[in-house]
Amino acid sequence: MKLTGPFIQILTMDKLPLRGKIADEQLEIVPNGGIAYQDGKIVEIGDFKLLQQKYPSATLDLLTENYVALPAMIDVHTHICWAGSRAKDYAMRLSGKSYLEIATAGGGIWDTVSKTRQCLLAELARLTAERANALYAQGIHTIEVKSGYGLSLAEELKMLEAIHLANEQTNADLIPTCLAAHIVPKDFAGNETDYLEMLASELLPEIKRRKLTNRVDVFVEKTAFSVDAATKYLLKAKDLGFDILLHGDQFTASSAGLARQVGALSIDHLEAADENEISILASGSTIPVALPGASLGLGDKFAPARKLLDAGTSLVIASDWNPGSAPMGDLLTQAAILGAAQKLSMAETWAALTCRAAAALNLHDRGILKNGYQADFIMFKTNDYSEILYRQGRLMVNG
Ligand code: NIG
Ligand code: FE
Repeated sequence: MKLTGPFIQILTMDKLPLRGKIADEQLEIVPNGGIAYQDGKIVEIGDFKLLQQKYPSATLDLLTENYVALPAMIDVHTHICWAGSRAKDYAMRLSGKSYLEIATAGGGIWDTVSKTRQCLLAELARLTAERANALYAQGIHTIEVKSGYGLSLAEELKMLEAIHLANEQTNADLIPTCLAAHIVPKDFAGNETDYLEMLASELLPEIKRRKLTNRVDVFVEKTAFSVDAATKYLLKAKDLGFDILLHGDQFTASSAGLARQVGALSIDHLEAADENEISILASGSTIPVALPGASLGLGDKFAPARKLLDAGTSLVIASDWNPGSAPMGDLLTQAAILGAAQKLSMAETWAALTCRAAAALNLHDRGILKNGYQADFIMFKTNDYSEILYRQGRLMVNG
């Protein structure tokens, strides 16, 4: 048994609602707290002195300065498995071309596909682990990673294998997702329906057989897949037993009905979501995921996070770290900026990075500090939790 403390505050993130608004007063804060844990699992959280008396033989990890503890953060949406750079796309956007124009002209995602296909498996795994380590150093210990820059049977499998290899090279827990339905690849002889049919009949069964992931994502957009084609594909994926998620409403409001129909776990982006989309989401159980890194990378508006919460949906915040739309890869900074722009309470932002994020990944052993959950906590050297978001990402995690 180990006992770490005393923390000036432990924010457990326990007993918070999975959807709707949260006031800061709802946060459970344990003052002068200790965390007792064994074999990676929390045994008890409470007053440090009382825990010391209760577990006299515990190995002590004694803190002599003021720290605030929180559950480790969870990034539910990244594309950190890629090769190459899209700095030229970024420069083109700054010179006035839009993300969709660059994509239509053959740049954008397709450019990264070419570079990723040329990259050998081991190198792709190394690049992925390096980026995962950068996130881990920011206090993000669970990281979802999408494929989607392979876009052929062999190359998508290579990407998913690379993510698994990277998982062995980092302390972070990587959760792979199949995003073979990112765009229709330029070298595929057929239309979107043919491509998705190939994925459903050939790629998804092979992914199941190799146990590479149980999550399937699709990009619904004018330059990617239509709502109709995506619906058929996702229903097939669902039949095969996959959890469903989607990139929706990034530029065009269209996907909330689809998310509800297929019972998607999450719908990510939503920068273009209007009142109608918000009310559809409020009537279902799909979790909206805001990606402020994509708004910052594209100079676009933020997802309507405040309106979503007020309408009664859940809200998760993720980095979307990728070479095109979201090159920053700094989740805490992005979440703090979104919180300031959208007037999110600190509790809502922290829930979006911890307990609600765990729910979006269907993981029920993390995101909260309580008995039986993973002893996966992060600490910030400060007297009060409110300092962390106030410093907008510049107060770094310790240890
Ligand atoms: O989430 N929107 C689609 N996919 C990614 C961008 C991928 C890229 O531009 O390379 C996103 O923004
Ligand atoms: Fe994305």
